[in-house]
Amino acid sequence: ESKHGGGKNGKKEGLSGSSFFTWFMVIALLGVWTSVAVVWFELVDYEEVLAKAKDFRYNLSEVLQGKLGIYDADGDGDFDVEDAKVLLGKYKHRMILKSVKEAIKEPLKKLREKQESKKEEIKDEEEKKKARKGKDATDRKDKKAVDTNKLKKDSDKAKRDRGKEKEKGLDKNVKSKETTKKSTSEKDGTVQVGKDKETKKITKKKRNKQNYGSLMRNRRLKERSVPAQPPSPDSEETIQPAEKSYVESAKKKKKPKLLNKFDKTIKAELDAAEKLRKKGKVEEALRAFEALVNQYPQSPRARYGLAQSEDDLAEKMRSNEMLQKAINTYDEVVSLPNVPSDLIKLSLKREADRQQFLGRMRGSLVTLQKLVQLFPGDTSFKNDLGVGYLLIGDNSNAKKVYEEVLSLAPNDGFAKVHYGFILKAENKIAESIPYLKEGLESGDPGTDDGRFYFHLGDALQRMGDKEAYRWYELGYQRGHFASVWQRSLYNVKGLKAQPWWTARETGYTELVKSLEKNWKLIRDEGLAVMDKKRSLFLPEDENLREKGDWSQFTLWQQGRKNENACKSVPKTCALLERFPEATGCRRGQIKYSIMHPGTHVWPHTGPTNCRLRMHLGLVIPKEGCRIRCAQENRTWEEGKVLIFDDSFEHEVWQDAGSYRLIFIVDVWHPELSAQQRRTLPAI
Ligand SMILES: *[C@@H]1O[C@H](CO)[C@@H](O)[C@H](O)[C@H]1NC(C)=O
Ligand SMILES: *[C@@H]1O[C@H](CO)[C@@H](O)[C@H](O)[C@H]1NC(C)=O
Repeated sequence: ESKHGGGKNGKKEGLSGSSFFTWFMVIALLGVWTSVAVVWFELVDYEEVLAKAKDFRYNLSEVLQGKLGIYDADGDGDFDVEDAKVLLGKYKHRMILKSVKEAIKEPLKKLREKQESKKEEIKDEEEKKKARKGKDATDRKDKKAVDTNKLKKDSDKAKRDRGKEKEKGLDKNVKSKETTKKSTSEKDGTVQVGKDKETKKITKKKRNKQNYGSLMRNRRLKERSVPAQPPSPDSEETIQPAEKSYVESAKKKKKPKLLNKFDKTIKAELDAAEKLRKKGKVEEALRAFEALVNQYPQSPRARYGLAQSEDDLAEKMRSNEMLQKAINTYDEVVSLPNVPSDLIKLSLKREADRQQFLGRMRGSLVTLQKLVQLFPGDTSFKNDLGVGYLLIGDNSNAKKVYEEVLSLAPNDGFAKVHYGFILKAENKIAESIPYLKEGLESGDPGTDDGRFYFHLGDALQRMGDKEAYRWYELGYQRGHFASVWQRSLYNVKGLKAQPWWTARETGYTELVKSLEKNWKLIRDEGLAVMDKKRSLFLPEDENLREKGDWSQFTLWQQGRKNENACKSVPKTCALLERFPEATGCRRGQIKYSIMHPGTHVWPHTGPTNCRLRMHLGLVIPKEGCRIRCAQENRTWEEGKVLIFDDSFEHEVWQDAGSYRLIFIVDVWHPELSAQQRRTLPAI
């Protein structure tokens, strides 16, 4: 994260202040996985989620939804100079007051998780009804059930908001550039990370369906994952933040209206309660707001304060239950009479992202749909909704949403990158390019994400366009890739990085010796499977091939042994059992790989720098088989092990006259500690 403008100790502080959002973000990256998340989150308690989150300093609403919420430190519903002062006061050590904007950049990041959206505003009775109606409509999936007058009104309101948003956006872009420059110079200190998981069931179901996350999977060679392990709190890993650079500008914006008519009459009381909350006196604030809600049950602002206090307390107590309560309370706000429209927006937005945090994807979708219905002119809500669909793997509805956004706002960069992403997932390579490209070029919030560089480059490469490397270079400069050649997104920083390795360099000489010594045994068991149980070899299914026939027979994946598979190759499995660096490598596999003549595997990049990949040659035609890793070609030899780091771009050609059979053994990167090997989430 230091990559993104953080200081040397940025990470530590970032981690300690990390919010739970982050964890979900990881899921968001890997769509296949998202479906699992729901289950996962039902089971996992808050504590664990938080622990995980510490590795992943993502902020869903910022990163995915592409907007910065308001960093409103002084609680006046806006981010302004006063907020900046508050932030600066809290982070004196970082106070380089060149400009407020500059100075708040750092503290903002740290504070991100602590700052709830604190904007408040007002709306009226109609809104309430509409909200209800909207909800019902959503439940019925009837998007047209909203009263037209209201829509009109909302739309006007939304237009105004959009104007505001635009201003904000411009500022962010400026900021973004500055941060980018800085991050480039700090590149070396950077970490990237990530994780993904998916159950086999889900994999099976969605194997060929690319969704938001599964695009990531394309970079992996036939990797089927299983549920991840809880990462260690002090894992070295952090996910590559896609958009850390959006910082709310200090520019004075029009303050949102916080209070409705009635609430203005109890402003002093509301302020007093809010002050407690701002001071971090969470329990006291909760009690104060509870009292206000009891006294003034119709006060939207009081109820919103209560929701926020519950939300704060949930974080403090790390309680899912409390968070659920907060979610319910946010929902209640919206059904009160005379709720200011900005308060509705804030409540629903927060509700949606808390729901996502808890893995309640469907619930959040309903909330997002409600927002879209209430504020149909606000494309940012539509963009959020698109992400909501992507998160549940519903690419086709996401696609519709982005088509809608693009018809309303043809220059919306966020919609463009996501639309391009979806097209690419549909293997509409050429069509995806302009969207990804223009989306990235827009510099809009939410677009500067490694995945978009990754897939744009990949699409260009597949079209034979050398411009790919320009985008890889840019992705590297912006901190998304460790280098132009090494483009894995799930990395532990500081690991030795080179395309090709010798056995000695890896330190796994015993394993290599054993593989080479027993290669015939391994080969013969593999050949027997080919003869008798060929169906155990599954075709590569991640769209890595330009052409050809390529299948794999997997014995271990994500550190899990496939007992059934091993029944067919018992000696090979027995031999491997002695090498936990391989069998325990939860970020890799052990498998046979057969490739037939006429195969070309597109240049691609593995997901993580945490493993090295050994290839033991078993049946190698004399000529015509080649593998390139980064800028060096090699070829296999029977009975010999090749070792490379598949987080570097690699490419394979099979132009021989007969099949090529190799045995693939992934091992932990030798520099990973025992702790990391235990705790890094599986991929
Ligand atoms: C993420 O961003 C939103 C809006 O930008 C903000 O309200 C929220 O507090 C942030 N959350 C975390 C966990 O950083
Ligand atoms: C590697 O092999 C491929 C395929 O034969 C060839 O096109 C390419 O030029 C070679 N690259 C290098 C760096 O030798």
